[in-house]
Amino acid sequence: MKNILVTGGAGFIGSNFVLDCLRPGHGHKDAIKIINLDLLTYAGNIDNLAAITHDPRHIFIPGDIADSDLVGRILRDHAIDKVINFAAESHVDRSIHGSGDFITTNILGLHKLLETTRQYWRELPAPAQAQFRFMQISTDEVYGSLQRDDPAFTEQNPMQPNSPYAASKAAGDHLVRAWHHTYGLPTLITNCSNNYGPWQFPEKLIPLMIVNALAGKDLPVYGDGRQRRDWLYVSDHCQAIQSVLQNGRVGETYAIGGNNEQDNIDMVHQICAILTAMQPPKNGTDYAAQIKYVSDRPGHDRRYAINASKIKSELGWEPLESLESGLKKTVRWYLDHSEWLARVTSGKYRDWVATQYDGRDGRNGRDGRNGRNPESQVSAS
Ligand code: NAD
Ligand code: TYD
Repeated sequence: MKNILVTGGAGFIGSNFVLDCLRPGHGHKDAIKIINLDLLTYAGNIDNLAAITHDPRHIFIPGDIADSDLVGRILRDHAIDKVINFAAESHVDRSIHGSGDFITTNILGLHKLLETTRQYWRELPAPAQAQFRFMQISTDEVYGSLQRDDPAFTEQNPMQPNSPYAASKAAGDHLVRAWHHTYGLPTLITNCSNNYGPWQFPEKLIPLMIVNALAGKDLPVYGDGRQRRDWLYVSDHCQAIQSVLQNGRVGETYAIGGNNEQDNIDMVHQICAILTAMQPPKNGTDYAAQIKYVSDRPGHDRRYAINASKIKSELGWEPLESLESGLKKTVRWYLDHSEWLARVTSGKYRDWVATQYDGRDGRNGRDGRNGRNPESQVSAS
């Protein structure tokens, strides 16, 4: 029996992880219990977990990782032997508008979670202490930005975070490392690249482009669109987390990537092409006509890339999804979940979109007049 405390399990990656673990045929059948603690911020959505509402192996508890009384009770009452921390503020653009929540959750909240976990862990009998794991889900953004020809990030890269979000995650990674070295807490850290797939909140690039395309709105590409990201399909990431949790070496860090580097503008064109093939726009054109270059993100990291050879050689994990197959599944999923989209894009979402995009002209883009890039295959309207 594995008793796992998943924090942030109503968010994008956390809910995919929980659903994957409990999926029939996954191999865990009846041998697993998941306690899902989530504060249900704007990014957390209990609807993501509707398929497992009646599954006795899953218990959802609304609450904060910083609430030591609550977390302590959960750890004891459910005899937790694994903690996986997905809970975070996760959007770079929001961290630029206001960094407070990022410091509160990603650093101070994590510190509370580590301390509460440590108190519980040190009271366990020695064999249970040895089996226990605290796993921190982190990001490649802690390593900073690469030039186009630089080798991809490995676990050995120095931390050089550039955004408030990345800085808060880097601080979190340092805390986790210190709690292992100082107190012996059996920790694992993963640093992964940009995830995509079902249930991703439409503030991030891929779902935002799908939602805006379908709504006939502009597709806002920051700067010259030549920033480069590695894209990891979320279920590949969930498999990697399972591998690290089961067989990762205590105290180690594992970099996880999708082997799918892509310039943002090429990614947006690919999404448009898939969407146009699956659900052509009513005016008979191509969604790419909606692409609009807008002013750049301050401090925008140019490139992230992951060399995932450590997790491959030590644990035998490799991503299964190609960018094309993953994107097709993702676009299909969003087309099939219009009710979910309608619910998450109401109210506060609209306020965020207005804050982030209204009045964001193309001054810093290639074409200063209207923000559209003359070199792209876009018909200016
Ligand atoms: P998300 O924003 O979709 O979800 C975060 C979840 O955490 C939400 O459900 C939210 O309600 C919850 N939460 C926030 N503050 C909390 C608190 N104080 N206590 C309890 N719950 C809280 O994020 P995501 O994309 O699913 O990312 C999950 C983790 O993976 C994050 O730590 C993020 O830094 C990391 N990560 C994400 C990506 C990506 O591409 N999405 C890439 C690398 C790393
Ligand atoms: P995002 O999904 O926010 O992830 P991250 O900043 O963590 O990499 O953005 C991915 C890339 O897409 C990033 O280079 C910023 C860019 N981007 C746009 O060009 N336009 C947008 O509207 C958004 C949200 C992102």
